[in-house]
Amino acid sequence: MEKLVNIKLNAAEDGIIIVDQRALPLELKYLEIKTPEQAYDAIESLAVRGAPAIGIFAGYSMYVLSKQIVKDAKSSSDAHQKIEKLAEYLNSSRPTAVNLNYVLTRVLKRIKDVDYDKIISVLKEEAVKIHEEDKAMCKAISEYGLTLLKDGMGVITHCNAGPLATSEYGTAQGPLIMSKERGLNIRVYADETRPLLQGARLTSFELYNSGVDVTLICDNMASLVMRKGLINIAFVGADRIAANGDFANKIGTSGVAILCKHYGIPFYTFAPSSTIDMSCPTGNDIVIEERNGDEIAEKFYAKRMAPKGIKTFNPAFDVTDHNLLSGIVTEKGIIRAPFDVNLKKMFG
Ligand code: MRU
Repeated sequence: MEKLVNIKLNAAEDGIIIVDQRALPLELKYLEIKTPEQAYDAIESLAVRGAPAIGIFAGYSMYVLSKQIVKDAKSSSDAHQKIEKLAEYLNSSRPTAVNLNYVLTRVLKRIKDVDYDKIISVLKEEAVKIHEEDKAMCKAISEYGLTLLKDGMGVITHCNAGPLATSEYGTAQGPLIMSKERGLNIRVYADETRPLLQGARLTSFELYNSGVDVTLICDNMASLVMRKGLINIAFVGADRIAANGDFANKIGTSGVAILCKHYGIPFYTFAPSSTIDMSCPTGNDIVIEERNGDEIAEKFYAKRMAPKGIKTFNPAFDVTDHNLLSGIVTEKGIIRAPFDVNLKKMFG
């Protein structure tokens, strides 16, 4: 299958074209984003999702959506103020993945002392740089991840940390795709990832199309496949890694980590530096996004599957304790325990 370009500028550079991840795997649909409200909605509704992809999209959004602001601005400080407001607005679309905040803070810092007539060209330069850095990051992370794999191994993964969630290859899925390119035979078990089914809709779609041997399981089957000896290692992504190594990832991740500990299976998270938040001391300080309960009771069912009026609790992420981690695979190498000391050494 042809490689998908999930985020790019349109020809006039007055909009961003994204793959609408909500429609996959049955339909390959593209969306053109031209207003701040459309950009906010694309992130909030998960048309664009996955921590690094949200960051890349935010970079291009700042470039494209600032054009009108600069055109209408009465003065340089007026333009700067309105661009800051735009960043604040986009930043409020989803709270957990730190990459969104990282990119918005980075571009604002980059244009802080830039003359009014140069703002737009600097924003474009920075957006393209963020995208290019992500491509290099994915390759480097995948290479490090590949060193953990041997021919014939079984890998469990949760949610989607593949090309759609990044620029290409992905983070936790990168070594799995690369292993196929390098002639290794790896068996992957993809958790479906309730309630939004990123594992079923996206991970199994991407791995299957890359020729990787992938088997889809429901989340509650993970223990059985581990008990049967089918799993040798676990690879997952991350949305925010705290300074002590605790990390937030898709809801259900911590359960996989706890199972791995029980069965003695090494458990790794994969993330670029932009996902490491040294200003966040522990997992308890990570804000967890809560989403509408209809995602549990109705979404993806032919008809509603829970009583009308039932109380629901729908956290989108959970926190995995650093003591369940065998390592954090970054573009700079694999970080091992003690995580607080070693994260500080590398990212402090
Ligand atoms: O809610 P989502 O689908 O954006 O959650 C995505 C995840 O939890 C991913 O594992 C994480 O962002 C890493 S993507 C490389």
